[in-house]
Amino acid sequence: MAPSGVYTLRADTDRTPGPSTAAMDAAAEILRDLGRDPPRLSPKFLYDARGSALFEAITALPEYYLTRTEADILSSRVDDIRKRVGQGRTVIDLGAGTGAKAITLCRLIRPVCYVAVDIAPEVLKVVSTRLGDLFPDFPIHVVAADLCDRIALPREIPRARRLAFYPGSSLGNFDPPEAEALLSRVRGVLGEDGVLLMGIDLVKDVVPLEAAYNDVAGVTAAFNLNILGHINGLVGSNFDSRDWRHRAFFNGDRSRMEMHLEAAVDVKVRWPGGGRDFSRGERIHTESSYKYRIEDVETMLGRAGFGFSVNWTDERGWFAVFLASVDPVWPAGGGE
Ligand code: AVJ
Repeated sequence: MAPSGVYTLRADTDRTPGPSTAAMDAAAEILRDLGRDPPRLSPKFLYDARGSALFEAITALPEYYLTRTEADILSSRVDDIRKRVGQGRTVIDLGAGTGAKAITLCRLIRPVCYVAVDIAPEVLKVVSTRLGDLFPDFPIHVVAADLCDRIALPREIPRARRLAFYPGSSLGNFDPPEAEALLSRVRGVLGEDGVLLMGIDLVKDVVPLEAAYNDVAGVTAAFNLNILGHINGLVGSNFDSRDWRHRAFFNGDRSRMEMHLEAAVDVKVRWPGGGRDFSRGERIHTESSYKYRIEDVETMLGRAGFGFSVNWTDERGWFAVFLASVDPVWPAGGGE
């Protein structure tokens, strides 16, 4: 049973110097979620070092229109964005990954300080070296944090003129109530002069949607399956990725893409203090990616405490970039 696994693990780590508190919490969360019906894993566990690299490879796939479309919107609206965002911003990059998008943004708006926040400590090393080499003229900070928790930034980060950067439709990984709560926490990190620059994938025809999560080269499958190796390391389980198949499809009722791992055979998984049997065809839900309408996002932003927002989309209307301000009147530096 999963719950006994959780408590065994906690008791062990109380007596011996074992995993950090963060690792222990992760293990407890994983074992709880594997014990649910249907079983699931939080998509945040997709991002160990290998998973972050696989995700970066996904962003270059022909089928994965999200990153490319977002980059096109950002570059075609650069003047507008620069004018509205103004000078002297401290960029807070939420889910920085390996920093590819941060480089584009920093070239665009030349911040006075850059803060990479990410759940994977390994990628933070990469991002600080990469950004530090390219931009010697402003300080680079890294913060290992789970955006599901309170967002605590070190004291030395300037409070004034913060810009939270949340690209790539990462917000889509959260169920709508949690997405709104996350936006409220982001609002909390910003002062009255703060702004949020965020990319959101929009509702569209199911064909390009499903193609984007079922690429021919199999990179998304590898990304999904990689979660199993990561959690084996976190909880001591013995998942074998060869027993599982990548599944991704659109759930129209909930307006979201879903990724699952489906057992290809009957599988017995064991971990210290517990385990679970899966029958052939049984699925573990590993990710939801909600697809929004512009109005839904505007409503969420308003409820999360943002006073004003503008947005831009591509010609096909597939993706939207939102620039939201805390202040209902656009802050100094911006103009119509
Ligand atoms: C980074 C969470 C936005 O949901 O599209 C890519 C992750 N999953 N392919 C997304 C992902 C499958 C991506 N996000």
